[in-house]
Amino acid sequence: MSSSTKTNRAAWLEGPSAQCEPLPHQATTPWRLVLLGAPGVGKGTQADLLHQRMRACHLSTGDVFRASGSRADCDQSPAMKDALGYMRSGALVPDSTVWEMVRERKGCLHCEGGFILDGFPRTLGQAESLQQLMKDEALTLTAVVNYDLPASEIVARLGGRRTCEKCKAVYHVTERPPKTEGRCDRCDGKLFQREDDRPESIKVRLEAYDRATAPLIDFYEKLGLLVQVSAKGSPDDIFEETFTQLEARRLGTTARKAWLSCEDHRSGI
Ligand code: AP5
Repeated sequence: MSSSTKTNRAAWLEGPSAQCEPLPHQATTPWRLVLLGAPGVGKGTQADLLHQRMRACHLSTGDVFRASGSRADCDQSPAMKDALGYMRSGALVPDSTVWEMVRERKGCLHCEGGFILDGFPRTLGQAESLQQLMKDEALTLTAVVNYDLPASEIVARLGGRRTCEKCKAVYHVTERPPKTEGRCDRCDGKLFQREDDRPESIKVRLEAYDRATAPLIDFYEKLGLLVQVSAKGSPDDIFEETFTQLEARRLGTTARKAWLSCEDHRSGI
């Protein structure tokens, strides 16, 4: 992808010098979400559905690393080459490299349509850095959605995943097959199996999740931002459950703000 490419998330995938396509319409109150959950639980699939409904931009750190991996060797920084090595083995990329990449793209957090962070933050250090960055940028998270699924189902989802090399749409060989085998329904791009979906890498990824990422559930619960959703069932059912819970949460917050402002009015503040 050249730096002049315009897609709806060019600035995220290529870096701040790339331009995104203009939004078709401006969302009145943008959604600013974080998706949590083990590898393969379906975060990317849900992020895509949420993007289609809410227009918020799908910001996946894994996609940035993969996009960089598909560039020529001489276009990759030493830190990015290291990151790709960690990724292939299933290990987490060091916080300093991930943070450098996200900080460089902080403009994406101001996207008029909002954002859906997928795969970031993944450690307590990353979560704290994000909180600080949001504060510095005068932004707030709307909610953090945690998807939950038993490990046996997660392994089956990862083993059958296929991804479009062009538009990154995600399929599953039995659960979400493309209309034509091996080709993307949306752009006819070639579908490939990710290197880190091999059994030995899956094991490392699940261990890294338990050790480093699962503690974020508590972190966001304490901040009052957590929304728990079961990842069992069809992608559409899970999406409906997510959207219903998010809407209810937003309505509750709006009603609470209105009530507090009436209280202030009554007490003459
Ligand atoms: P990343 O790309 O973020 O991968 P991940 O978190 O491991 O998550 P996945 O993309 O594997 O799964 P998903 O939950 O999005 O599931 P999906 O929707 O695809 O990270 C990759 C690597 O990059 C990391 O291991 C690490 O090395 C590095 N990295 C990235 N960010 C980092 C960070 N912040 N810090 C450190 N390192 C970082 O679905 C999976 C399959 O299931 C698909 O085939 C799909 O079609 C299918 N499926 C989805 N939903 C359903 C359903 N409801 N029913 C049946 N099948 C379904």
